[in-house]
Amino acid sequence: MHDEPSSIDTFEERLRERFRARTARSAALYARALGSLPGGDTRTSTFFRPYPLFADRAEGCRLHDVDGNVYLDLLNNFTSLIHGHGHPRITAAIAAQAAKGTVYAAPVEVQLALAEEITRRVPSMQRVRFTNSGTEAVMNALRVARAFTGRSKFLKMEGGYHGSYDPVEISIAPGPDGPVWPAGEPDEVGLSPALSGEVLVAPFNDLETTLGLIERHHEDLAAVIVEPVMGAGGMIPADQRFLDGLRAATAAHRILLILDEIISFRLAPGGAQQLYRVEPDLTTLGKLIGGGLPIGAFGGRADIMELFDPRRSDRMTHAGTFNGSPICMAAGLAALELLTPAEIARINRLGDRLRDGFQAAFTATGVRGRATGQGSLVQTHLVDGEVRNYRDGARAPAWYRRVTHLALLTRGVFSGWRTSFNVSTAMGEAEVDEAIAAFQAVLEELAAHLPE
Ligand SMILES: Cc1ncc(COP(=O)(O)O)c(C=O)c1O
Repeated sequence: MHDEPSSIDTFEERLRERFRARTARSAALYARALGSLPGGDTRTSTFFRPYPLFADRAEGCRLHDVDGNVYLDLLNNFTSLIHGHGHPRITAAIAAQAAKGTVYAAPVEVQLALAEEITRRVPSMQRVRFTNSGTEAVMNALRVARAFTGRSKFLKMEGGYHGSYDPVEISIAPGPDGPVWPAGEPDEVGLSPALSGEVLVAPFNDLETTLGLIERHHEDLAAVIVEPVMGAGGMIPADQRFLDGLRAATAAHRILLILDEIISFRLAPGGAQQLYRVEPDLTTLGKLIGGGLPIGAFGGRADIMELFDPRRSDRMTHAGTFNGSPICMAAGLAALELLTPAEIARINRLGDRLRDGFQAAFTATGVRGRATGQGSLVQTHLVDGEVRNYRDGARAPAWYRRVTHLALLTRGVFSGWRTSFNVSTAMGEAEVDEAIAAFQAVLEELAAHLPE
């Protein structure tokens, strides 16, 4: 681990000056935003210091800000734009549906078409329901797990981000010295203190510890929720053995296994569960299945999902003014039709090239870091050693993300503030190599500010 050298502060200040010099209109809009939005912000994950840039427009893999700067978009609204911006077929699908009406309070055929496309791709999702966000998909999956099992507790992984539903806002980012398993740490103020008794936290990729917790608490556990590739927690793939072990232990104790594939679905036509050959009881989807519009979906075993059948006297409610909104269904269907096995394989190869290129840049500059991820999902960590779980990544100094993210922006690369990246089908090798060159230039500059 690198200590925080004082010259990093100087470097960061210089980067902020460089950013300010390029973004005068964004600065003015941000100053105006402070008058109506707390901190000028309405989405926690898009804020960074000194202020976020304001977007003007985007096409393909290029994003234009209001000051006329153009960026290679490797964030893609946190993986939801798998085809980049403004794909003509998706835009046409949105326009055609908008012309027919946006929402009716009546089901539409395009909703059925998207449900059929999902259930065809993901055989474990025998039945599916649509929501407006991934958060709601997770909320309903957890709720139906309680109803189906008659148990109340959940087990999640430390560092696992599953949206902003209270029971999963535990131990998302507790730092490298989190509480002793299975205790969790609320990630937000305003959560009920009772939650800590309902949610158990386990270390990702540590099968023995996690199985021990399941053995001890199985009588109370309704579900285990896990991402096959931990996204916000560091783009860290699960070991095959870990997911196999979780599947076997949950099945043995009639605990539902929920795979949150809101990020990892992109890795194979049937999601990461196809790659791992793991069949969960329930799956949550979101982001890319909306073709750039708001969406979420949850589904799984028919005998579980049938609890939502409105013809039952004891049916579970799943209301929502915009559930299955036709315009989102149309955009999502177009996006999935474009997402062929060949395109998935191609962007996975591009992601491998990006990850290898970033790792080579660490080596070439002597900065000790790791590039993690799988297929088209990539992240960098300033840690010397393997990154197999959240704590491994959390050992990196906090300034690394801030500095690298800002330095990349000033070099025309738009990435996640965690230094996370994802490849869209709007990209080819030239764009990937452009990103690698920018990252290497950032590391060269950074290396000059690190101790020998
Ligand atoms: C794995 C995972 N689950 C759930 C969510 C929540 O989705 P949404 O932001 O659409 O509510 C996210 C969002 O980043 C996510 O990455």
